[in-house]
Amino acid sequence: MASLRIGVCGLGTVGSGVVNIFNDHRGLIEQRCNAGLQLVHIGARRDNADCDTSSYRLSRDVFEVVRDPDVDVVVELIGGTTVARDLVTQAIQAGKHVVTANKALIAEYGNELIALAEQAQVALRFEAAVAGGIPIIKVLRESLAANVITGVAGIINGTGNFILTEMANAGRGFDDVLAEAQALGYAEADPTFDVDGTDAAHKLVILASLAFGIPLDANAPVTEGIDTVTPADLEFAKELGFCVKHLGIARRCGDAIDLRVHPTLIPTTRQIARVDGVLNAVMVEADAVGEIVLTGPGAGSLPTASSVCSDLLDLGRVLSHSKVDPMPTLGVPSDELQTLPLIPRDEVKGVWYLRLVVEDRPGVMAEITGLLSERGISIESLIQRPPTAGSSQVTVVILTDSVACGQLDSAIRNMEALPTLSGSVVRLRVESFQEV
Ligand code: HSE
Repeated sequence: MASLRIGVCGLGTVGSGVVNIFNDHRGLIEQRCNAGLQLVHIGARRDNADCDTSSYRLSRDVFEVVRDPDVDVVVELIGGTTVARDLVTQAIQAGKHVVTANKALIAEYGNELIALAEQAQVALRFEAAVAGGIPIIKVLRESLAANVITGVAGIINGTGNFILTEMANAGRGFDDVLAEAQALGYAEADPTFDVDGTDAAHKLVILASLAFGIPLDANAPVTEGIDTVTPADLEFAKELGFCVKHLGIARRCGDAIDLRVHPTLIPTTRQIARVDGVLNAVMVEADAVGEIVLTGPGAGSLPTASSVCSDLLDLGRVLSHSKVDPMPTLGVPSDELQTLPLIPRDEVKGVWYLRLVVEDRPGVMAEITGLLSERGISIESLIQRPPTAGSSQVTVVILTDSVACGQLDSAIRNMEALPTLSGSVVRLRVESFQEV
């Protein structure tokens, strides 16, 4: 192939970043790729003042890019799973390679799209789908290919990390910080996915599939968002020597896997605890290399576009001397992926932070600790705040020892039935990452 001709669909935050990189670094890209790599066609419903598209063919209908015989690679940057799914399907069926930044599309429809791409002998790449500018897909698929990977954990949503950091360090309100994340182009079109953990769950599913050689299953992770974290919890966590991060965790335990997304207390001494703002971090535990941590911007125009372009450069290099891309999309051919059972939520063990509001009366604390000790749950630390003036209630914070989730559920149900307890018990997981 003389030159790989690229069509970009979508001119939002990431699409404009890709165009800007091509405008600014065309020579550098071709030199490093050692092959021709030309952006030829852009499909976008509207212009974007953040980039100059005057050198390229422009269509308002993104499907024009798929139909263009001069396009070899379709870059899908429109997001969502409706039009994007049709576009990627049609591109593959037309024999075009596809690069996408769409984590929802890959997590939810990746199995069918990968099978289609294998059949059509075209490449499907998605470096930008996880952790923005961090090249974690290539690391898992290629750099660590000689390792058995036992765990992947990380901060994989930039918006969520930006919100938690600003709330903890600057005392800002949730809504105010979310609005800023939207203005900066970090948040999804519908930021619910950033806040409720869906976006991080999509990314975790992709990481787990690459790490453990399992099919993509968007419904697999147990998912909790950041909307339950209050300024009070951030303060108590600090007092106990922790910070709160929204983590995705994938662990292989024997022949089963544990997949979870949730706000997590992490000791402030861990490297990942210092990953603030829009930065992401992904820790990988593998048998030969040990632990590695990759950190970098998890969202934003140029960081995410950098990952899109890395896929394009890879394809340019490979396809300049081969008709097909020999790299299986998930590191192994899709018929060699192995389904592994999920560890049931109730059986997942862990340390917990509990916050509860109780009557300030003799015997109340004994009742609470009794409900825990009846189930063999030990207490690691306990904080009790004096009642505020005029109030008869006190806030109690407990750090438990390791306990199975189902056992803790039952203790909490009994606590919440006590007349001396007001409202519900706030619970957050604690991870020290001694094993991951
Ligand atoms: N909304 C996503 C985030 C964008 O904040 O991480 C990058 O995937």
